[in-house]
Amino acid sequence: MSNEFEDIVVAPDERLSTECAPIEEITPEVRALADRMLRDMYATDGCGLAAPQVGELVQMVVIDVGYTENKRSPYVLINPEIVAADGEELEFAEGCLSFPGITVRVTRPSHVVVQALNLDGELMRYEAERNLLAVCLQHEIDHLHGVTMVDHLGPLKRAATMRDYKEALAAGARPGDTE
Ligand code: NI
Repeated sequence: MSNEFEDIVVAPDERLSTECAPIEEITPEVRALADRMLRDMYATDGCGLAAPQVGELVQMVVIDVGYTENKRSPYVLINPEIVAADGEELEFAEGCLSFPGITVRVTRPSHVVVQALNLDGELMRYEAERNLLAVCLQHEIDHLHGVTMVDHLGPLKRAATMRDYKEALAAGARPGDTE
């Protein structure tokens, strides 16, 4: 196992259900955290990663929904806020680096508008509709408020999903593996 895989906090873990603190100032430590999260995300083939997933309880997420080996266009979102989540509800099969080995069908609003600071302290606005970015923004920002994809399921579905998840873990699933 490489460091990147070991760096990921895997459920069950209290840090995945904790409200994260806003970032007060963009310090060298904050930049280093962004670098570390991007390294981990690319190494594990994820399209997004939130700070609590590497054990840091602060409001930062990284997202890159369309990278290839040669082309990367990462977003770093600091203190992101969902300013609108509306439109038709859509179901999407989601994976999460903190739940190796499973995918979960989650229903979310199809259109989302997010405001966040970037690493230069500029206020950025992101808008996405009916695509992976729309799902990813909502999934990652949930993590900053202690909410994971399985929290969107009803009790029966959630219990069944957690049984599948325990089996996947027992079978050796690791971050980035999906069903
Ligand atoms: Ni996740």
